[in-house]
Amino acid sequence: MNILVTGGAGYIGVHTCVVLLEKGHTVIVADNLCNSKADSINKVRQITRKEITFYNIDVTDEQALETIFLQHKIDSVIHFAGLKAVGESVKLPLDYYFNNVVSTLLLAKVCLKHQVNRFIFSSSATVYGNNTVPFVETLDPLPTTNPYGETKAMSERVLTDIARTNPSFSVSLLRYFNPIGAHQSGLIGEDPNGIPNNLMPYITQVAKGKLEKLMVFGNDFFTVDGTGVRDYIHVMDLAEGHVAALDNLTEGVHIYNLGTGQGTSVLQLIEAFEEANGVGIPYEIVDRRPGDIASSYANVLKAKRELGWIAKHNIKAMCRDAWRFEKNIEQLRVR
Ligand code: NAD
Ligand code: UD1
Repeated sequence: MNILVTGGAGYIGVHTCVVLLEKGHTVIVADNLCNSKADSINKVRQITRKEITFYNIDVTDEQALETIFLQHKIDSVIHFAGLKAVGESVKLPLDYYFNNVVSTLLLAKVCLKHQVNRFIFSSSATVYGNNTVPFVETLDPLPTTNPYGETKAMSERVLTDIARTNPSFSVSLLRYFNPIGAHQSGLIGEDPNGIPNNLMPYITQVAKGKLEKLMVFGNDFFTVDGTGVRDYIHVMDLAEGHVAALDNLTEGVHIYNLGTGQGTSVLQLIEAFEEANGVGIPYEIVDRRPGDIASSYANVLKAKRELGWIAKHNIKAMCRDAWRFEKNIEQLRVR
């Protein structure tokens, strides 16, 4: 299949491109590099020894999208492109609604015009808000709590309504839990700009001595040890989940949680990282981060039943792969 991957230079996108190429698909990436580097596409070429076409375009530019659809006979679209920082979305709501919702609208419009009926969308567990765990796909309405989450819920609704009036439109809405880890080669991984917001990149930078210690945001949640519990999933398992969704895509709208179904607390993740890598992670308990919830983990039965997909990597493998990439980052940057 010829697959257009928007946001394919980003963290989840590059890992998915690797898996798609290895499965024999032709991959065309559209990314404006607002949160990634063109070199990540070279790394995909290096890992797979396969060609990949790259367009540096903004997905909110309808004309630029048209050009791609005229140049290539696209069979399926995976729409990763989006802004993803919750805190930033509260400060810059217009940027988030414009980028994340308009990109979905225009991409769907161009798909319909060119009879491209297979659409996979990157949604997020954040659409479940502060609900009872494990989160299950049937929850409705979605109690989002910030503009970022709302852009995901809105995009889901847009795609659902389009599928209702276009019976041949096939949509998979994938709600990711917390992707961490990196490709086993250590050539691609998560490399956020500035001080990381998310836990795993913060831990790897503390391990390296780039940051002094980890601030653990609260130990008074109603969880196993008082610290926040999340469903961490290896990014390669997530990438495989996209292939499973593509392979099983049928007409209509299908919603899947992509997680492991296992909750891990902040302290448990620190311990797993230390054991997996033999590196100490100094930490200090501080106040809760505003907006954080106690627990988030997935009910994964639907993805297993309908896609035949389950996450395979355990927490230690995620920690080991994240650390391997972090140790390589400086070398990769100078190449
Ligand atoms: P990322 O920032 O690494 O990748 C997103 C990519 O999209 C970047 O390469 C960026 O340059 C590109 N992009 C953004 N806006 C664009 C635009 N208008 N036109 C073209 N390119 C654009 O993020 P990621 O972690 O790989 O996330 C991918 C998708 O998955 C996002 O939609 C995100 O909201 C969603 N998601 C991520 C997580 C997570 O924890 N990483 C969790 C749930 C959902
Ligand atoms: C955040 C986003 C969520 C997004 C997810 C993955 C918020 C409120 N939510 O969720 O929408 O889908 O990232 O990108 O930002 N922690 C620390 N110290 C740190 C960093 C994190 O203790 O320095 C704790 C947090 O309190 C939380 C856990 O680690 O309990 C995971 O945090 P994080 O990686 O930011 O992910 P989420 O909070 O799940």
